[in-house]
This record gives sequence, structure tokens and C-alpha cells, in this order.
Amino acid sequence: MSLALSTDDLPSPESEAVAPEIAPAQFVRWFREVAPYVHAFRGKTFVVGFGGELVQAGVLNSLVQDLSLLNALGIRLVLVHGSRPQVNEQLRLKGFSHRFDRGVNVTDADALGCVKEAAGEILLDIEAAFSQGLPNTPMSHARMRVLTGNFVTARPVGVIDGVDYQHTGHVHKIDTEALRFVIDQGSIVLMSPLGFSPTGEAFSLSMEELATRIAVSLHAEKLIFLTESPGVHEDAEHIDTELARVDADALLAQNVLDADTAFYLEHLSRAVKQGVARAHLLPYALDGSILLEIFTHDGVGTMVVEDTLEDLRPATMDDVGAILQLIEPLELDGTLVPRGRKQIERDVETFWVAEHDGIIYGCVALYVWPEDRMAEVACLVVHPDWQGEGEGDKLLRHVEARARASGVKRLFVLTTRTSHWFIKRGFNPGSVADLPPSRRSQYNRARNSLVFVKRL
Ligand code: ARG
Repeated sequence: MSLALSTDDLPSPESEAVAPEIAPAQFVRWFREVAPYVHAFRGKTFVVGFGGELVQAGVLNSLVQDLSLLNALGIRLVLVHGSRPQVNEQLRLKGFSHRFDRGVNVTDADALGCVKEAAGEILLDIEAAFSQGLPNTPMSHARMRVLTGNFVTARPVGVIDGVDYQHTGHVHKIDTEALRFVIDQGSIVLMSPLGFSPTGEAFSLSMEELATRIAVSLHAEKLIFLTESPGVHEDAEHIDTELARVDADALLAQNVLDADTAFYLEHLSRAVKQGVARAHLLPYALDGSILLEIFTHDGVGTMVVEDTLEDLRPATMDDVGAILQLIEPLELDGTLVPRGRKQIERDVETFWVAEHDGIIYGCVALYVWPEDRMAEVACLVVHPDWQGEGEGDKLLRHVEARARASGVKRLFVLTTRTSHWFIKRGFNPGSVADLPPSRRSQYNRARNSLVFVKRL
């Protein structure tokens, strides 16, 4: 039997109820792109927090399917659910007048009863969702163990400004050792926003605080909140997809975010400050958002990190392949002189590369003629997906600074197609006579490049 797939084997558009066609080549390319993150996250711990709103919105089953896939890929999971709308529903059904908002609420004895009931129900729903194994769903062949337990010691919030918060608590201590033991066995830990005091009293906790504290105590790789907020918006259109923690804090200080988003962002920032590598805010309304965030380079929500993942650094031998990939299309269309692997390997020390989260998206080379106090900028390339964001400028500024630091007075570039770009950046037309003598002898008359010079 042949396993080869041709596009002819795929269902035709007429045959109804099939997913949109994916060409085999596209599928394979996509699967390979995911691979680096599969490797990077195997064995790592993710803490995922979501409000009762997600359950209410009816997306629990699809979330559980995605989580089971993460589990199968060796990611350790701790889940923390919220229950605010469910608690409010219980309060309403029982005829109590108070309501829970985001943040700290007073929990009296009646409300505590509602909190326990709501938590119990959601726990059961989640366990049920993890127990499905229906054929023809992503859950077929999945067998997941989900455990819950008394991992959290709580302490009362107490009386603030004369208000007694009664059964509302803060996280006092997490039994990290027990949690580790459970997740190391490959089980998923499921936690409700409740904790117990040493006297056995129950306290209602905030899901966000609990998830954050757990992520910190486990030194988790990620803290992920799945929320009704699509991410951090500074203005109407654009989402901040990656925020350095200091920038997140500055944004919070400006008070420009809506209350919900700000509340989540505060927790993300705190988690990162205390050592969680990456903290994410994702919309649960987007089906599969957690998979998109984890397994694509750009993700779909907002990610807070201590330092942005961008790096401009000297190239090493390991970067030669990536540099070749970057410059190849431009060599083929004649924008760059063909160099070939040998030459790049030989000259690798003259290259800098711009990297983001393990992907090299730009490069530039600087050749210096110290005795002439001159240097050449060459091979300045930014991958099309990253163009238009000033990345080329960054690379140029960087090599300019390096050139200056090594005493270079004149920087030059040879180009046939990109004169304008360099002119806008302070380069002036020059001639072959302006080149250092040893470079002049290598000048390729047939190519007839223009020479541009910038005084530093
Ligand atoms: N997939 C990577 C990760 O999970 C990168 C995600 C980037 N997300 C973003 N919102 N910028 O760490």
C-alpha cells in the first residue's frame, strides 16, 4: 500500500462537511515549524489559570482537548479554575443579595457555601472532560490522570479599613513538594480557588493570585491566563504581543488599560519578576489559542518576559546555515553578490545576526580596513516577515557603532539596487576610487555596483 498523498487524494470541495484542504507540503512545513517548541517545552511546567467564565462560555471541552495534547507532549500542567459567575449564580438562586467581583470580595458564611458548591461542580465538569476518550476526537487514545488535593494553606485577609473580609483569604503557603511529586508522575494537577487554614477553615481565594503563586513556587516555565480579554491593547488596533516586564509595569502605572486586563497583567508581571520565564494572557474565545500561543513564533496574545527575546549578537559557526537561508533569495534575484557557504564560514566573524526567540531574522557584515580607517557594510538583510519595523536601521546603527569604535572614519557600501535606502541614512554617492586599495582590486566591473560612502 502506498502512503504517498497527492492533492488528488484529498476530498474535493464538492464533498460537503470536510475541513478546508491543507496541502500535504503545507502540513509538513507547519508541523516542522512547531518542532522547536515541542523540544523546548518537553518536561517544563506550565500553570494555566482560567475563570469560571470560560466554563460558562462552553469551551471547556476544547480547552481540555488542547491541554491533553500538551500533556502528551511531555508538558507538566497545573490548572487553576475560577468560579465567579457560578458563585454569583448560586448566590442569586439562594436569594442572597451580594455579588462577587474581580478582586477581593467579602465572603460571609453563605457565600462560602456557594463558593464550595460552585467549585465542586466545576471540578467535576473538568474531570469529566478529561475522562472522555471518544473516537474521532482529539481525546481518542488519551488517558489522563487528573488529581486535586490540599496543596494550599490560606490565611484570612482579615479586616481592612473596618471591613471584615471573613472567609476571603490569601495564599499563605504552597506545598510545592507534594505538587512536584504529583506532576512528576505525569498527572495533571487541578486546583480550585480555595485554601485551608491550619485550623481547618476554608477560605475563598482569587484564581489569579493562586495561579501566580503556584507558578512562582514551582519555578514554572509559563503562567498562562485564558481570559475574556484578547490581550493587552494600548490603542484600539494593536495588541502588545511581547512586553518586557518593566514596560508592562510602566503601562500599568499609566492607568490606561481596562480593569480586567490590568488585573491580569499585574499578576503576569509579578510572576515574571519572581522567576517565571514567560507569562501569557490569551483569549479563550479564540479556539485553540493556547496551541497557537505555545507552538507559533508570534503567538496570539500578550506575553510578558523579563528581557525581550531580541538579541543582536556576533554570528558563530552555528549561524552559517541561517545566514545562508536569509541571503539566498537576494543572491538569486541579484540584489546580493553570491557568496556561498565557504565564504560565509570563512568570514563568519565579520557577521552580526539579529535573533528573536531562536529565529535568526536579520544579518549584516562589517569588513574593516584598519590601515585605511575604512569599513564596508555588506550583506545587510532582514527577513521579509520582519521588515518595516526599523530592524534594518538597528543593524546598520549597530555596525556603525562598531566601526566607530574601531577607529573607522569612512563607511562604504556597494550596491546595485538599494541606493535609496542608504542615501536616506546619510550615505553619499562615491566612486571606486574611494575604496581602500586592496578592495578596489576586487571590484567587479561587470556587476558595476554603485559606491556610497558615509563619514562617521
Ligand atoms: N511560542 C512561544 C512561546 O510559547 C512564543 C510565543 C510568543 N507569544 C507572543 N504573544 N508574543 O513561548
